[in-house]
Amino acid sequence: MKEDVKKRVTELRRALHRHNHLYYVLDEPEISDAEYDRLMQELTALETAYPELVEPDSPTQRVGARPLEKFETVAHTIPMLSLENAFDEEGVRAFDQRVRRFLNTDLPLLYTAEPKLDGVAVELVYENGRLAEGSTRGDGYTGELITPNIRTIKTVPLVLLNTVSVVIPSRLEVRGEVFIPVEAFKELNEERLDKGEPPFANPRNAAAGSLRQLDSRITAKRPLEIFCYGVGVVTDLEFTSHWEILQALKALGCRVNPNIKPKAPLEEIVAYYRDLLDRRHDFPFEMDGIVVKVDDLILQKRLGEKSRSPRWAIAHKFPPTQETTRVLKIDVQVGRTGALTPVAHLEPVPVGGVTVSRATLHNEDEIRRKDVRVGDTVWIQRAGDVIPEVVKVITTKRTGVEEPFQMPSVCPVCRSKVFRLQDEAVWRCVNANCPAQVKERIKHFSSKGAFDIDGLGVKLIGQLVDKGLLKSYAELFFLDKATVTNLERMGEKSAQNLIDAIDKSKQITLARFIYALGIRHVGEHMAHVLARHFKALGDLMSASREELMGIDEIGPQVSYSVRAFFDNPKNQRNIERMMVEAGVEFAPEETVAEEPLAGKTIVLTGALESMTRAEIKARIEALGGKVSSSVSRKTTYVVAGKDPGSKLDRAEELGIAILNEEEFTGLLSSQTMRQRGVGELASQIGEEGYEKG
Ligand code: IVH
Repeated sequence: MKEDVKKRVTELRRALHRHNHLYYVLDEPEISDAEYDRLMQELTALETAYPELVEPDSPTQRVGARPLEKFETVAHTIPMLSLENAFDEEGVRAFDQRVRRFLNTDLPLLYTAEPKLDGVAVELVYENGRLAEGSTRGDGYTGELITPNIRTIKTVPLVLLNTVSVVIPSRLEVRGEVFIPVEAFKELNEERLDKGEPPFANPRNAAAGSLRQLDSRITAKRPLEIFCYGVGVVTDLEFTSHWEILQALKALGCRVNPNIKPKAPLEEIVAYYRDLLDRRHDFPFEMDGIVVKVDDLILQKRLGEKSRSPRWAIAHKFPPTQETTRVLKIDVQVGRTGALTPVAHLEPVPVGGVTVSRATLHNEDEIRRKDVRVGDTVWIQRAGDVIPEVVKVITTKRTGVEEPFQMPSVCPVCRSKVFRLQDEAVWRCVNANCPAQVKERIKHFSSKGAFDIDGLGVKLIGQLVDKGLLKSYAELFFLDKATVTNLERMGEKSAQNLIDAIDKSKQITLARFIYALGIRHVGEHMAHVLARHFKALGDLMSASREELMGIDEIGPQVSYSVRAFFDNPKNQRNIERMMVEAGVEFAPEETVAEEPLAGKTIVLTGALESMTRAEIKARIEALGGKVSSSVSRKTTYVVAGKDPGSKLDRAEELGIAILNEEEFTGLLSSQTMRQRGVGELASQIGEEGYEKG
């Protein structure tokens, strides 16, 4: 009996390792998610029944282990060096010259160039094909042992693949960069803000912070990935070129960046750099440049290294997403929840391809910590699509006339006294009728993920509130056409359209309704959690804090703000006006069965004119679809807007259905019409796109 179990466990592990590799590393799954889950469940069940069979490299062990007291340190057998930088083409050409002078040759050399990811360098040690150790680079000589954390990263193989082409070395030290992809980073930060936790400044910090958790169960929840780019000690294998090393790593199941330029002369490397720089924002990960490496290992050996960096490689950096500029003034914005956010107005400066003229200073403590003054020269940075922020002041540029900033003691908009609660970093205007807050609340209320009222823009909301025509979002439903027609830049027709859009929005799902209310710490995700649990608004409104805290994912903060919101008589009155007097009605929740894009993965490339990326994503997700940043066989559609990137080529290569903007918006709106055979329609459009590709 026990022998049978052992055999089955081995079989299941082998299968799961293989499917894991197909899915995560190659992005080419052979079985459905459901099938994968079934195998995993079977293995989990067997390991629960026979705990003595559990092994650290079982596919079930990626969920994290018990917390460590502290990290042990470990010496790297071969030091993990750093790289010299080149900031322009001249720098790379000079590198090529230096290398050839050192080798005493006029002949052109071949280089292999790779994207340089901005994450955390790690070393993975495989002993007889099993992951034995994972460590950080540390100071290059000794790093921290973070094996349990490394195990949670799904793109890190727990056992190496058995192949015919490469034997499994008895010891293999793999080096690579652990990072968080851009989209996942945004989601992670949104989640943190939802929970009232401080967001990470950039994907690099998020990756570093996630890897340095003593509790690997926390690491397991972070969207970490890896690309492997080199080796330390390797037994049993002989290599002659760097490219060969990368190929071998790939064959052994390690994830290697698919965008590498192998064995090319300098001119091609320069062209490769320009191409990647052009398309840097099309990739699912953040790059800070490329790494150019002499490909021939014999030459590498002859070149050797200087104290901290090899002579055979150089990092050719992209222009920074950090820049210096001057603070012209600091003003204070009032948000939806009354939070006062100081904002620096800057001398406009291009940063990573976008002109930046404002940056957030977060809150009073941050300004004080960084000591930002009006007139200061500062470093600012943009990370992904996150709002630019002031990183630090260049104090050596001070002339003495810079003025320290004082947080106002009254709200800059409504002049009420402001308060700073204990344990909070922000000052708040607590006047719920403050026009700034009212405007922000209405903006949120009518946004895409909430009531989704077409044609109600920021300027219009501004006019309505300033003229005293709107004091709360509930009053939106009582606007009449004559009032709207009288506003600036409004005609009969647009007024009617707005009234119609407001009327149409009255059919809304509970989750969207909850989100629209703008309860602190209740973002879209939390709203769904609440809607799913309570199903009826009345039940949510009367739920006690204890009941709320009993729900998975809901903690003290959310339960407090939910309770506080519904205890407020003004909010109760607003809800009553909407539900009873205006006739807002709950539409059936967008359930799985009714999600016409369920199971469909959509990749966007190029710019669309009718919607922003965030809006598109929200629409697709609302219909049950998934937005992915890279094209694979799993992709259902690729939507190509203006100036599409390489994703379009890849889609054509794989024969994935390609939609243009019109077809895509048609698809989205057709999906909302319940009665039609939605799947049918989608596949028709798909077919059309397919022929084009
Ligand atoms: S090669 C001796 N390749 O850049 C060679 N490094 O400044 C050293 N990095 O600590 C590294 N992508 O964290 C190499 N494709 C790549 C890389 C890469 C990112 C990082 C790595 C290293 C740092 C060097």
